[in-house]
Amino acid sequence: MKKIHVAIIGCGNIFPMHAQSIIENDSTDLVAVCDIKPERAEARAKELGCQAYTDYMQLFDEQALDAIHICLPHYLHAPVSIEATKRGLHVLTEKPMAIDYQDAVDMLETAKEAGTHFGVIFQNRYNAGVQLIKRLLTDGTLGKIKSAKASVTWDRSDDYYAKSDWKGTWDKEGGGVLIDQAIHTLDLLRFFVDADIEYIDATISNRGHEQIEVEDAAEGIVKFKTGTVAAFHTINYYGYDASVEVELYCERGLVKMVGDKGTVDLFDGRTFIADNDPNETFSYGESVKSYWGVNHVKQINNFYDVLVNGGELYIKPEEALKTQKMINAIYQSGKEKQRIWFD
Ligand SMILES: NC(=O)c1ccc[n+]([C@@H]2O[C@H](COP(=O)([O-])OP(=O)(O)OC[C@H]3O[C@@H](n4cnc5c(N)ncnc54)[C@H](O)[C@@H]3O)[C@@H](O)[C@H]2O)c1
Repeated sequence: MKKIHVAIIGCGNIFPMHAQSIIENDSTDLVAVCDIKPERAEARAKELGCQAYTDYMQLFDEQALDAIHICLPHYLHAPVSIEATKRGLHVLTEKPMAIDYQDAVDMLETAKEAGTHFGVIFQNRYNAGVQLIKRLLTDGTLGKIKSAKASVTWDRSDDYYAKSDWKGTWDKEGGGVLIDQAIHTLDLLRFFVDADIEYIDATISNRGHEQIEVEDAAEGIVKFKTGTVAAFHTINYYGYDASVEVELYCERGLVKMVGDKGTVDLFDGRTFIADNDPNETFSYGESVKSYWGVNHVKQINNFYDVLVNGGELYIKPEEALKTQKMINAIYQSGKEKQRIWFD
């Protein structure tokens, strides 16, 4: 059977997670990589035995591609995705879907019109703890979530921002701690509650960094139409990357997610615990960060499984769009200093 011809656009930090997953998938063939920095594209192409490009339009013109992975700065997700989709290519993009909500809507609409598959990476949904919690919510064991709280206290130094030509800027990153780091945890919070949002009331500020214009602190509440209040606090000027914490106070139990570990204490005395298996490893190479987790390969395999065998993506693009809307509303609330009501 002909393999799916894939290219990765953007050969930076996250590149190995995608490249290794594609290489080890039996259905896919990594035929090209693209980076505006020629030395990056050439080094990766040489290492992986594929073609190097510095211009994604030339890549689209010259290669008979079936799918692309977008590993680019945030402001490029929408234009590259839409261009590829219009050419009939399937697209798997890194989070966030886009910077602006309307761009994200356009990305999904274009893919629907083209009949192509479109996915957004939120690999933490595959964590064992997350899966346990979601299962006990979905099957009714936990009952309704009455309230929830989430905390992300990480460390992104001035040096981290100084090394990047796009992070820390409104136009290229689209924000700071919220759209880049905490988006995973807020996506999980929304995944768990799984209800329409009524309103968002939030603040954003820059308190700990001198050289960036975007927020390094965001806090607020997401009030859901079910009555659930979800409080969040996210900063990236803490001394280290502390474990992400999520707590769900439910009708029939208390849920705690600390890092990748999920603990469910039911009020009837039963306890369920799930954590990622330390023996479950997938070698993405030496430069990858442990806090990215091991689950890129699972989401990427699901994407190609759906392309080959049909069915629906485990993380549907409509889900990513809802998270995008929530993130954009938090920014709007913070910037306009007012409550944002949802329809
Ligand atoms: N899922 C996760 O846990 C996770 C972790 C890290 C990064 N990410 C996401 O991955 C994406 C990339 O992040 P990164 O840390 O790898 O960034 P990076 O800056 O390390 O890499 C981006 C690459 O894109 C290249 N580039 C810029 N403009 C280009 C253009 N016009 N054409 C081709 N290449 C171009 C840059 O030269 C750079 O090599 C972002 O969306 C980020 O949020 C996700």
